[in-house]
Amino acid sequence: MIEIKDLTKIYKLSNKKKAELKTKDSEKVAVDGVSLEAHPGEIYGLLGPNGAGKTTTLRCVATLLKPTKGEISVCGFDTVKEGKQVRDKICFLTNEIKLDPHFSASYMFDFFGGLHGIDNETLSKRKEDFFKRFDIMDFKDKKIEDLSTGMKQKAAIAVSLVHDPEVIIFDEPTNGLDIITARVVTDFLRELRDSGKTIIVSTHIMSEAQKLCDRIGMIIDGRKVAEGTLSELLAEESAEDLEDAFFKVYKRVKGEDKIS
Ligand SMILES: Nc1ncnc2c1ncn2[C@@H]1O[C@H](COP(=O)(O)OP(=O)(O)OP(=O)(O)O)[C@@H](O)[C@H]1O
Ligand SMILES: [Mg+2]
Repeated sequence: MIEIKDLTKIYKLSNKKKAELKTKDSEKVAVDGVSLEAHPGEIYGLLGPNGAGKTTTLRCVATLLKPTKGEISVCGFDTVKEGKQVRDKICFLTNEIKLDPHFSASYMFDFFGGLHGIDNETLSKRKEDFFKRFDIMDFKDKKIEDLSTGMKQKAAIAVSLVHDPEVIIFDEPTNGLDIITARVVTDFLRELRDSGKTIIVSTHIMSEAQKLCDRIGMIIDGRKVAEGTLSELLAEESAEDLEDAFFKVYKRVKGEDKIS
């Protein structure tokens, strides 16, 4: 279970970042009062355009960033005061977190399994299960740097799940993957959901959110602007599909004149 209460994250901007964002402001409000809950047996999708605040929100949940305001609890533990307990319960994957390219997937799996104190028998059973499922058995002893993008991502996902975490936090898990590899990943997420895990993913791919997520929170400019199951969102916006619903919400939030 993840509970986010009134999360606000404000970044102080360095001169370099100011130039990058083309602003004179010394702060950037990346997340602005977001509250949400994700439950066991559920895939919650954070859906939003570039810069909406998805990664920042997930980093706060994963204890990598401290909220400026608000509170987050994961399995009942506070992400700031009980970070260690939270980290034991979660896995976190983003595009920026990469496996060491000089080692093999098999070596990394064993290494992180060791860090988590997983016994050898469980570790080797789990490795075989995950690697077979992800079709990386034949590549398990190759250096990560020699693997394709899809293989690297599948290896990273397998390694992130080595400790069988209760809560899975994946930032754009299918980014850059072809449809077959993406399907392997989303099918596995559904299986994990069905086994009672709490899953939160971010995406800007409407079709993926529509098919994968049990509930969706739309975020724009750091604010949660809509939330519900697919059918609730479609009914609320009188929309045909999620993309249609998203554009209706987006227009309302940004003002009709900004996009047309
Ligand atoms: N370390 C940082 N310092 C300053 N500003 C930041 C930092 N990280 C992110 N931001 C800004 O905060 C806002 C939210 O960024 P975030 O990465 O959370 O968005 P996102 O929804 O994940 O976007 P994307 O779809 O591009 O991954 C953006 O305007 C971004 O430029
Ligand atoms: Mg992001």
